[in-house]
Amino acid sequence: MILRGPYLTCQKTGLLRYWADGVIKISGQGMIEWAGPWSDFLKKFGAQRQSKVHDSGGLVVPGLVDAHCHLPQYAAVAMGGEELLPWLKRYIFPLEKSFEEAPWVAHYARHFFQELIRSGTTAAAVYATIWKDSTDLCFEQALQSGMRVIMGKVMMDRYSYNDHFRRLYPSKSRKEISLRESADLCRKWHGRDGRIFYAFSPRFALSCSKELMRDVGQIAQSYGVYIQTHLSENKEEINAVTLEHPGYPSYTALYERCGILGPKTLLGHSIWLNSREIELLGKTNSSVVHCPESNFFLGSGIMNWRALAAHRVPISLGSDVGAGPDLNLWSVMKQALYADKMARVYGVHGFNGAAVKGSPPMPLRPEQVFYWATLGGAKALGLDRFAGSIEVGKSADLTVIDMSTVNPLPPEMEDLMDSSSGALLARLIYRGSASMIKAVYIQGRLQYQRNKVTPRVF
Ligand code: GUN
Ligand code: FE
Repeated sequence: MILRGPYLTCQKTGLLRYWADGVIKISGQGMIEWAGPWSDFLKKFGAQRQSKVHDSGGLVVPGLVDAHCHLPQYAAVAMGGEELLPWLKRYIFPLEKSFEEAPWVAHYARHFFQELIRSGTTAAAVYATIWKDSTDLCFEQALQSGMRVIMGKVMMDRYSYNDHFRRLYPSKSRKEISLRESADLCRKWHGRDGRIFYAFSPRFALSCSKELMRDVGQIAQSYGVYIQTHLSENKEEINAVTLEHPGYPSYTALYERCGILGPKTLLGHSIWLNSREIELLGKTNSSVVHCPESNFFLGSGIMNWRALAAHRVPISLGSDVGAGPDLNLWSVMKQALYADKMARVYGVHGFNGAAVKGSPPMPLRPEQVFYWATLGGAKALGLDRFAGSIEVGKSADLTVIDMSTVNPLPPEMEDLMDSSSGALLARLIYRGSASMIKAVYIQGRLQYQRNKVTPRVF
């Protein structure tokens, strides 16, 4: 297939590449064989190939990478005004618990992946539930969706769905079951079709005994798979972690001593960190997932991306659905920009309340958040060989955007708008909505088409 139309991508340098009249040539296997401007295409392939060229129908951008979301929580989006711990207890734990033997799990999971794709996301790191069988069904649907998915069964051997946040001594058998079931799923699914990967998913330090976390560190390393968890999202959470796991210099140090940190570890939120913790993340090459929309929703705080970036900590973006109300990562990019603007006014605070001094020289730019949502995110997740940008050798994971829903003026007044790549991207981020997404291709196959009417079954 050969697609002709404008396309916009970011490159390894972090800079944008934009062709107003571009061509993307896709192989039978769904890989990008050639990409560049139409004039170069004509020179290279000659006019005889023109009959095979299709109009892309809109602006083509790479599929996005959502590096942190919770599949079972989709039904509970936009619920509650509480902060993290009461929100988990009231809305999330009962919902996740209901996945134990529900007949609708496969249908729910299929819908979840379709919704991700409909939002222009083609790769994701996902938390399933604590239940092995329902997680297995979620993997089946991940495979069917065509997406690139990193996923795992949630691990909790204390403070689980039944005991909430009451003190409960960890039971040895809970830990053993959690490890055994996770390892079974890992062996079954990791590496499937080259696009399904396993992540050991200890929920957070409050739900896990040290013994469980230590075993996770060892097993994940021996299998060469991912670990995903939450780190320092909320002050009440951090206080509770300090009480439950006393004797560690910090939340991050606790993870480090349990062997949880490393280049295949994804840490959601990572808001309330001191400089030692940030150094530790940099030293261990762990990556953080910035979830600004969720952080606003739960009133958790603002992640200090500048300090993390200064220590070369890889950053990706996550919707964190259900704490994030929407799977649309374009909206998350916008929230990341707004969070940074507010941080410049009010300061970013460390856990001890001290503002990080000095106003940063430059505000966060749309190019940077787009990088986190595409190539940077793919890189943080170790998927950048095949995903994250429109480049030769990568999988044709592409979104087609209807610019008429984003541009303020109609096509006949186009000259009155800035047509630079930076202006185009800023309009996508600040004015984008789900309706701008016309079509989504994964590995060259059309996986979503807007306005396609599915007949109703009565
Ligand atoms: N910390 C532990 N579990 C969760 C969760 O499900 N969502 C969020 N936002 N934070 C968590
Ligand atoms: Fe989360």
